[in-house]
Amino acid sequence: MTRQPETDLWWKKTTVYQIYPRSFMDSSGNGIGDLEGIISKLDYVKDLGVETIWFSPFYTSPQEDFGYDIANYKDIAPEYGTMAICDRLIQEIHDRGMKIVMDLVLNHTSDKHPWFVESKSSRDNPKRDWYVWQDGKKPKGKAPPNNWQARITGSGWYYDENTDQWYWAQFLPFQPDLNYRNPEVKTKMFETVRFWLEKGVDGFRLDIIDSLYEDATFRNNPLSRHLLPSEDGVLFKSTKMTMHHPDTMIFVQELRKLIDEYSNPSRFLVGEVEGPMPTIKKYCGEVNNPGLNSIFLFETLGVKLQPKTIRKLLNKFNQYYPDPFIPTWVSSNHDIMRRISRFNNDLEIGKLNAALQLTARAVPYIYYGEEIGLQQNSIPLSDSLDAVVSRFKKLPKVLQKLLQKITSEAIHRDNCRTPMQWTPSQNAGFCSPSIKPWLPVSSGYQDRNVETMYSNPDSILHCYKRFLQIRKQYSVLTSGRMTLIASELLPKQVLGFSRWIKTSDVKEEVNIFLNFEDTLVEFSNPTASKNIIASTTIVRAENNEQKIILRPYEAIMME
Ligand code: GLC
Repeated sequence: MTRQPETDLWWKKTTVYQIYPRSFMDSSGNGIGDLEGIISKLDYVKDLGVETIWFSPFYTSPQEDFGYDIANYKDIAPEYGTMAICDRLIQEIHDRGMKIVMDLVLNHTSDKHPWFVESKSSRDNPKRDWYVWQDGKKPKGKAPPNNWQARITGSGWYYDENTDQWYWAQFLPFQPDLNYRNPEVKTKMFETVRFWLEKGVDGFRLDIIDSLYEDATFRNNPLSRHLLPSEDGVLFKSTKMTMHHPDTMIFVQELRKLIDEYSNPSRFLVGEVEGPMPTIKKYCGEVNNPGLNSIFLFETLGVKLQPKTIRKLLNKFNQYYPDPFIPTWVSSNHDIMRRISRFNNDLEIGKLNAALQLTARAVPYIYYGEEIGLQQNSIPLSDSLDAVVSRFKKLPKVLQKLLQKITSEAIHRDNCRTPMQWTPSQNAGFCSPSIKPWLPVSSGYQDRNVETMYSNPDSILHCYKRFLQIRKQYSVLTSGRMTLIASELLPKQVLGFSRWIKTSDVKEEVNIFLNFEDTLVEFSNPTASKNIIASTTIVRAENNEQKIILRPYEAIMME
């Protein structure tokens, strides 16, 4: 069988839409989103114009970390549905010509997973070694085995009285790390991957894959000289022994081999990997021994919308991810403050952000609700359900408030996980008005909802739809190269870049111009493009061939 040339692979050209299942649509009337609810909204997702859906986990779970604590990798949490409904979901997505990406949490399980329950039961249990257990520090063994810190600060070692040993958990205490140095664990997980591939799943998002392996001899992490994230750590704490272990790189290469066995259609892996660019790029492996197909890049989540910073970032992405690689452009996700709220919830800036994301050379990741400008909520810390902040809840109320102020609402993750807003009615059409949704609906839902935005052709929703549509029509946006237009040729508030493809005799080219300020700007056209193909607004001033006029925060694509 002949393999497709690399550049033709669908996952390089796709647009990903992330659904947080608990918050998308409740069909059962309990205030919690579910799979039937999602199925009922697939036509909306299709009509929006995205091509791939990535689901945050909906496997069996005690939901202490809302699905990122898995208790059975091959079954569905009853509050979300059944395996039969999941099969139908996969089918319905494929029937609409879309792809499905599952979230795969390989690093850890829930502490309620039967494997861990067994492992914890005694030192000589056959599954003892499936997790990372160590003796405490001598003489009494009552201190953690070494200085390793969890991602959520503080020691990541937890003492088990019954067996007088400590288990390692990179994230939260109820998420014990699996021990991949035990071949049985690897075999079991590869088998799980096959289980989902056989069901037709098109790819996996690999949760904190950068933390899969730790140092085999449990050496202390050295101190770091760096306060900011760097090659050797953050906040003066190195992660040398606990992140980016060379064995993790080998693991992803093996996993890649496995998924490459499924080539019709091809599947892909996107890794949640954090760190400096040279480190994370290593996960992609080498040409003859590839690793992850792509990396979930975090820089775009917080980057300032300024021509200079975006210019730098686009250059960096181009430098690190030249063809056949492709960067990702992520705007928001379920862990971080919603992007629109970094712009004071200004919908015009939201549109500009969308135009940039959908025309840059990258695979765009859109988080549910971004297309309607869904805002970060402001649930007080004391009411939050997120386990990450449980330790802060012990602080006096004044300190909690102060903390919340300093961290500008992003202290817990509930605020970016609120229900999708479908209608202007109470509970925004997510669940019946008579029940309480699992998290309170964000403010502004009366205007920021699918129904209202559909009826306004100049809404942010239609802006997303327009740009998603041109991505389908102009292959240059999904396969072309990118060249920045020299800043000397543009006003300070404008960024411009070309996307182009050159074959032996034809050059296909489009040019994108983005106005990053709230004032109208006029400049002479530095390119040969004449016609405007798309704009963030439908109320726009006319350009002529020589002169370009951009309204405040307007972005256009010209041909
Ligand atoms: C990832 C997920 C996050 C989860 C954590 C532990 O960072 O995105 O939501 O809590 O891993 O699985």
